[in-house]
Amino acid sequence: MDISKQVAIVSGANRGLGKELALELLARGTKVYAGARNPESIDLPGVIPLQLDITDSQSVMAAAEVASDVTLLINNAGSATGASLLTGELNDIHLEFNTHVFGTLSMIRAFAPVIEKNGEGRY
Ligand SMILES: NC(=O)c1ccc[n+]([C@@H]2O[C@H](COP(=O)([O-])OP(=O)(O)OC[C@H]3O[C@@H](n4cnc5c(N)ncnc54)[C@H](OP(=O)(O)O)[C@@H]3O)[C@@H](O)[C@H]2O)c1
Repeated sequence: MDISKQVAIVSGANRGLGKELALELLARGTKVYAGARNPESIDLPGVIPLQLDITDSQSVMAAAEVASDVTLLINNAGSATGASLLTGELNDIHLEFNTHVFGTLSMIRAFAPVIEKNGEGRY
């Protein structure tokens, strides 16, 4: 894969690993949509900021409409509470599943057809 020819979307690109991934992609010549719950928190010159809450299906679908040229999905966004499945707070476990599992799945379901339409994607 020639990364410089890809169009990426990175979820949670406003800080942490997502910001670093977006920066690295930019440095390699990739067009980058930087998704964040609050797009004003994105301070990466060169990326295209995008409102994106992966637990909000309307936000995910709207992002897939705008970023219709995406060929590469980086599912970075998540909430790591560290809660034990056996003894942790159920609210924390709900949060983890809503982001890491269902939010990520929602992104895959929204962007797989986009990536396929754009002639990319691997199973
Ligand atoms: N760092 C590690 O050692 C490590 C190890 C294993 C796995 N991971 C996973 O790798 C990912 C990044 O880690 P990190 O350390 O960079 O985490 P982080 O600093 O806590 O950043 C999490 C990012 O996810 C975003 N986010 C959370 N919920 C979201 C939602 N519903 N919709 C959209 N964005 C959301 C946050 O946005 P806000 O600014 O809006 O909160 C933030 O940008 C996470 O999924 C984490 O669980 C990290």
